[in-house]
Amino acid sequence: MHETEPLLSEHDVQEIIQKDKDHLWHHLVQHKTFASQDPRIFVEGEGVRVRDIHGNEYLDGASGGVWCVNVGYGRESMARAVYDQLVQLPYYAGVAGTVPAAQLADQLAEILSGLDRVYFSSSGSEANEKAFKMVRQIAHLNGGAKSKVLYRDRDYHGTTIACLAATGQPERREAYGPFPEGFVGFPHALCYRCPFDLSYPDCNIECARALEDVVQREGPETVGAVIVEPMTAGGGVIPPVDEYYPILQEICAKYDLLLIIDEVVCGFGRTGKMFGFEHYDVAPDIVTMAKGMASAYAPISATAVRSEVFDEFLHDPSDTYDYFRDISTYGGCTGGFAAALENLRILEDEQLVENARVVGGYLLDCLRELADHECVGDVRGEGLLVGVELVADKSSKRPVSEGVMNSVMRKINEEGVLVGRTTRSFPGLNNTINIAPPLIATKADVGEIVAAVKVGIEHECSAT
Ligand SMILES: Cc1ncc(COP(=O)(O)O)c(C=O)c1O
Repeated sequence: MHETEPLLSEHDVQEIIQKDKDHLWHHLVQHKTFASQDPRIFVEGEGVRVRDIHGNEYLDGASGGVWCVNVGYGRESMARAVYDQLVQLPYYAGVAGTVPAAQLADQLAEILSGLDRVYFSSSGSEANEKAFKMVRQIAHLNGGAKSKVLYRDRDYHGTTIACLAATGQPERREAYGPFPEGFVGFPHALCYRCPFDLSYPDCNIECARALEDVVQREGPETVGAVIVEPMTAGGGVIPPVDEYYPILQEICAKYDLLLIIDEVVCGFGRTGKMFGFEHYDVAPDIVTMAKGMASAYAPISATAVRSEVFDEFLHDPSDTYDYFRDISTYGGCTGGFAAALENLRILEDEQLVENARVVGGYLLDCLRELADHECVGDVRGEGLLVGVELVADKSSKRPVSEGVMNSVMRKINEEGVLVGRTTRSFPGLNNTINIAPPLIATKADVGEIVAAVKVGIEHECSAT
């Protein structure tokens, strides 16, 4: 870990830590741990690196912890774009338009060719909620019952009750029921732990075909949509095989289902293409996005749809109920649009999507060199979204314990690198290290990440 001069005096440091401990409710954290250790508090960032309140510098292999800061830290042009827009007009509700909203919708429609209508909101969960509401209202408008949404095991779609209902991670849902009806799961697409105990390529891609069984079981007249992450991210970094999406698409076409692709993590270059679904031969009807959209310099999300979806909501203006009766107050914040526009400019001018592809390929190659270690069960990913699954026994694929995962993560941190891991997602399978640095990362940066991961695994992990 690289120590630098702290930005604050020791007195101020202690005061902030105390205020944090006394009043801040951290996300996803058991606060009892703060009885014996201080919370981590970050102070500044530059490029791919962040500094904590004590002056410790880390290479951020998690892009802000949850894969958001795609263009990296300390971008003055991002801050200036937001500042200029806020001074001119900070906000107007989405019932009206604003200049940056129109510009951003136009640019997204061009990038997403075929999905030419964009609805803005302020978080990934909200973007998915909009998609679910669209599906339900279309069913209602058509006087039918095609309102169910099918989701894939191990995928995550957000923190609200409906998004959790559509999330294939039982440990995230536990304790938050009862859930609304109308969300039904189908099998995941991880070859390493094939839900059908088959081996690719002789498996007939049963994981994709299983969707049809679920549609049949539920009754095709009740199912309106399927939601998937293009590649499962937080549930263990799972890029499906090439044949997967054409099969899914065929089933959607056969039963008249909308295909919703949740690009909240994969969107905006993370996987080496602008959107994750572009790796596959597939054409979604609805695409949701957030995180990398403005690299978290301002909150913003969107739900982009094909014109056929939008047209379902076009009716005689005297009818007061048939339009999409949804609003997102902060979906009108112009700072988010300005940040997203500048984010797109940076991605393009600095060719960061291509960088994610090239440097991500290098990262995957380097990590695959760790595959001989007795605890490395699987290494998988695409672009700068890579996972390393740790096992205690390679032949049975028994996952390492929670204690080992924690020790590995601690050691990687001590080496001055921050990475993520699956937590409280799929029962017994919270054993994947997630690596997703900002898209500006160089080969030298990912070399540093791999070296730290190697130390973590070699010091803390052995077969049992
Ligand atoms: C794939 C995916 N969809 C949706 C969300 C929810 O986004 P938010 O936390 O902005 O509501 C997340 C968050 O991690 C995510 O990973």
